[in-house]
Amino acid sequence: PYPVYDQLRSRSPVLHYPPSDAWMIFDYEGVKRALHDHEAFSSVVSPPGTRTAEWLIFSDPPRHTKLRAIVMRAFTPRAVAGLEPRIRRLSRELLDRTIESGQMDLAEDYTVPLPLLVIAEMLGAPIADQPRFKRWSDAILDLSYTVSGSEEAARALVEFTAVTAEMQAYLRGLIEQRRAAPEDDLLTRLVEAEVDGERLNEDEILGFFQLLLVAGHETTTNLIGNAMLCFLENPDELARLRAAPDLLPSAIEEVLRYRSPVQAMFRVTRRDVPMHGKVIPAGKAVLAMIGAANRDPEQFLDPGRFDIGRDPNPHIAFGHGIHFCIGAPLSRLEARIALSDLVARLGGLELASDAPWEPRRAIHVHGPTRLPIRFTPGP
Ligand code: HEM
Repeated sequence: PYPVYDQLRSRSPVLHYPPSDAWMIFDYEGVKRALHDHEAFSSVVSPPGTRTAEWLIFSDPPRHTKLRAIVMRAFTPRAVAGLEPRIRRLSRELLDRTIESGQMDLAEDYTVPLPLLVIAEMLGAPIADQPRFKRWSDAILDLSYTVSGSEEAARALVEFTAVTAEMQAYLRGLIEQRRAAPEDDLLTRLVEAEVDGERLNEDEILGFFQLLLVAGHETTTNLIGNAMLCFLENPDELARLRAAPDLLPSAIEEVLRYRSPVQAMFRVTRRDVPMHGKVIPAGKAVLAMIGAANRDPEQFLDPGRFDIGRDPNPHIAFGHGIHFCIGAPLSRLEARIALSDLVARLGGLELASDAPWEPRRAIHVHGPTRLPIRFTPGP
């Protein structure tokens, strides 16, 4: 999409798209403003009564502030640091399973299961139940990928409805268990949380659970997959990282900028908003194009270059302002562990020539759903 972003940004950073009467913002300052200025741009994009209407990410203050406080503490850098040994073990186990063959679909064998296992465990789901999580999460995401009104969308809606019922029944059981015997997990935190003196109801807990499940794995899956794509396309930068492993944190930030896992977020204007000489009328859907902002030449020197030592790198891949991603410390930790293992253990890395990698077909998330690679197994 990047040449298209560049073309559109240089023609006009704010664009009206008549077929869906939506507006798109492509420049760094404009996207940043749409993400943080909640007086002008609301995050309440789900109609009331719909499933996602309860979600933290789609709420505005004051409710947003209260919901965010419930889970924030579980995701601080210090809290997630405690997960490091477990994530390292999971990463090693996943690689041990396939590494000897010298080939794998990195998505199916590694980048999909790792974050999924981590978030399922944080939420408090028994290991044996975790295969179901993948199906649930896919159903939630498929619904948002499809074009409304299409046959595909109708099928996705049927699957989503079935999955929601299944999740609800499953969660009801877990909630009862946690009420009777609290544990040190996110579900217990949700069960015990109060907003304005009232406990969350079952729908609200379910909403949180769904949001954390979706937000907690597809994005990190894409970050790790995108990182490997960047290295496959830029072998010099991979060699640079092998020679200077201290560059890993900065390399991860550069992947976040260069191939942002979340390419766009929605907002709705609360009033007429003047921007770059145009006026976005009140009540309009707005797509803040994070992926385009992160390649704005006004902000980044030589933005089309993948440079693992880029400094400064004020990318907005995790958003900006009150909705800034609460999972950022967790994602960064998972990516650091994953990439240090992958770089250390997969020598002579190349894309498998007989089976091309496949991107996720979606406007707002970006990453490979299939990533067949070949390599020389390392230690
Ligand atoms: C919010 C990206 C990983 C949970 C956001 C936002 C972005 C983002 C752009 C802002 C949305 C907005 O302004 O409307 C990413 C990326 C990730 C990642 C690129 C990985 C590379 C995670 C993980 C979790 C998570 C691992 C949880 C376990 C959330 C939640 C919000 C959020 C709950 C909503 C926060 C709020 O509305 O206050 N994320 N995310 N994310 N993210 Fe992430």
